[in-house]
Amino acid sequence: MSEPKETKAHIDYEDLREWIVKAQALGEVKTVKGANLQEDVGLAAEAVLRAENGPCVIFDDIEGCAPGFRILLNMFAGKRKNMTLGFPDHLSKWELSDGFRQAFLKDQKTIPHRIVDDGPVFQNVMMGDAVDVTKFPAPVWHEGDGGPYIGTGTYSITMDPEEKWLNAGAYRAQVHDRKTVGIAIAKGHHGYLHQEKYIKRGEPMPVAMVLGGDPLAFFYGGIEAPYGVFELDIVGGMRGKPVDMVRGKLTGLPFPAHAEIVLEGFVHAEKTVMEGPFGEWSGHYAGGSRMRHVLDIGAIYHRNDPIVVGVPPMGAGPDEMARYRAVMRSAIIKENMTKAGVPGVQQVWCHEVGAARMFHSVSIKQAYPGHAVQAAAIAAQCGGSAYASKYVVVTDEDVDVTNLDNLLWAMLTRTDPKESIQFLSGAWDSSVDPALTPEKRAAGDFTHSVALINACRPYHWRDKFPRSNSPSPELMRRAREKYGWLLES
Ligand SMILES: Cc1cc2nc3c(=O)[nH]c(=O)nc-3n(C[C@H](O)[C@H](O)[C@H](O)COP(=O)(O)O)c2cc1C
Repeated sequence: MSEPKETKAHIDYEDLREWIVKAQALGEVKTVKGANLQEDVGLAAEAVLRAENGPCVIFDDIEGCAPGFRILLNMFAGKRKNMTLGFPDHLSKWELSDGFRQAFLKDQKTIPHRIVDDGPVFQNVMMGDAVDVTKFPAPVWHEGDGGPYIGTGTYSITMDPEEKWLNAGAYRAQVHDRKTVGIAIAKGHHGYLHQEKYIKRGEPMPVAMVLGGDPLAFFYGGIEAPYGVFELDIVGGMRGKPVDMVRGKLTGLPFPAHAEIVLEGFVHAEKTVMEGPFGEWSGHYAGGSRMRHVLDIGAIYHRNDPIVVGVPPMGAGPDEMARYRAVMRSAIIKENMTKAGVPGVQQVWCHEVGAARMFHSVSIKQAYPGHAVQAAAIAAQCGGSAYASKYVVVTDEDVDVTNLDNLLWAMLTRTDPKESIQFLSGAWDSSVDPALTPEKRAAGDFTHSVALINACRPYHWRDKFPRSNSPSPELMRRAREKYGWLLES
């Protein structure tokens, strides 16, 4: 597979409002009025989020909410995917991913955020008794969910109490009452490491939870950034200018001045509320319902006519969350592998099935014995991939690993299962993995094994391996050009 040529990017919007104007110019935004939160919004999500080219949907005049209090669904689909990351819309998903890597990751720039005094997020302020998160639309996304979730397209900002660095991570938020939402941070995530430190110090953890705003900031909140690096400063680096941020009146934490809605408050070690179940990205209610920490909201800030962004996981098969994560995480893992010293990495693809987490594929130009195993081990366990990664397939450079059929063909024809598959044990799992046994869950042992599948032509007899009769991209192009008309009706 050849290297994509498009490596220059230009992100041409500053916040969600400007992004909507650009998505409208592409003809990809639809409005729905009068929907209810109990069922309608979730049904619409089921209908559109799985489609590669589904529209962005804005719900207004939602039952039980003030007019103008809106929900936006499906940022990452259609032509707006490429627009969102700053690329022209003719690029394929692989070209978009590798263009993103070359433009933003190869030489990752961060630009520190800039603190400003005011911004649209302060157009409306609720404090003390006036705090009421139930004024904002929070749908029941899946029919088995334990309640409404306002935080799906969200990220929460916290600060390391010792090292003083800021973090942004996407953690779901169920609405419990007017002043309380859930905050479910999985073990090992940076936000969790912060929380553990506050607990040890016997202090509540200050949090600014952002519910809607710049799509890029949300996307970065939900993918792996290096330890100690603030995701909003990465976003500043991507735009080539600092993100303007204001300070919360209670905690002093910064959050984007152009955010739609921000809940500010504290997480107390001793306060937990029954949370869930929630239809998880693993396609099962595997996390169940249990006592989890909450955010005690002390202040809410929001723009006029605020927009809650919804990014609910749809479970089995590709959805919006998997689409953007596949593009961005594949790029991150390829860059991680290259920087870890694996030569000859061609494509990396985190397959959308498995929420772009569980199934990774890599193609390499084999250069020495053991190269494929080295690539597989690092692809499975580098910073960008380790959490919940279960299967890694490494194959040769003639295979388009973004295409599941091609990948499986290579796996079926270039492996001898007993020889070609090996396993790691005790790797970092997610609590939403339905295959975790009840015993491991009870013991808090959130680990699983990882299969490393070497689907490369065996290095030491690769010259004797039968030639593939799959067409080269050049031959396919000629076939389409000359005889494509046979397929036309
Ligand atoms: C829509 C969405 C919802 C997510 N929900 C959660 C969640 O509830 N808890 C969690 O720990 N991780 C969740 N994640 C994954 C984390 O946000 C992700 O792994 C991120 O890199 C963690 O950031 P951190 O290491 O900076 O804390 C979610 C991701 C997305 C995109």
